[in-house]
Amino acid sequence: MSLEELNYQIYGCRKCRLWYGAKHAVVGEGPLNAKVMLVGQNPGADEDETGRPFVGRAGKYLTKTLAEYGIKREDVFITNIVKHTSPENRKPFPDEIAACLPYLITQISIIKPKIIVLLGASAKETPRLEEIEYIEVIHPSAAMRFTKMNEKFRKQIADLAKRL
Ligand code: URA
Repeated sequence: MSLEELNYQIYGCRKCRLWYGAKHAVVGEGPLNAKVMLVGQNPGADEDETGRPFVGRAGKYLTKTLAEYGIKREDVFITNIVKHTSPENRKPFPDEIAACLPYLITQISIIKPKIIVLLGASAKETPRLEEIEYIEVIHPSAAMRFTKMNEKFRKQIADLAKRL
C-alpha cells in the first residue's frame, strides 16, 4: 500500500468516536525515506485546524529543540498514535488507540525508520517491531512546563542526535 492510499483510508476513518468532533484527520508528514519517525499522542486544536502534526505551541518547541541539536524537522516523519483530535484534548482511550494502531503500523512498514521516538506516555503503546530502535522521550508539552522535565527532554534529544 502507498502512503497516499493509507492517508485516504485515514481521512475517511470512522472506526472510533473521535472523527465526529474533528475538522481534519492528521495523518502525519515527512519524507518517505526518513530515518527517524516521531510519534506523539494525538492532534491538538492547532493540528486539527491545519491538518498538520505538531504545529501548535508544543510542536514549535519540539521543532526548535530538534534544530538546536542539528535535527531538521523536514528530515523526520512526524505522526501521532491517534490521528484525530479528542474532546478537550484529553488522552486517547485504549479503544481509540487500538482502533488507530493499524494505521501507525502501516506507516512504519512504508517508511521503515531506523529509530522511532515515542513522545509521552500514550505513544508508548506503539508496538515494538524488530530491527527498529525505540527511544522514549518526554512529551514536549510537559518539557515546556516543567524545568526538570525540560532538562531530561533536552538530554534525550541530544542522545537522539548522537545516534544519527
Ligand atoms: N501533541 C501531540 O501529541 N501531537 C500533536 O500533533 C500535537 C500536540
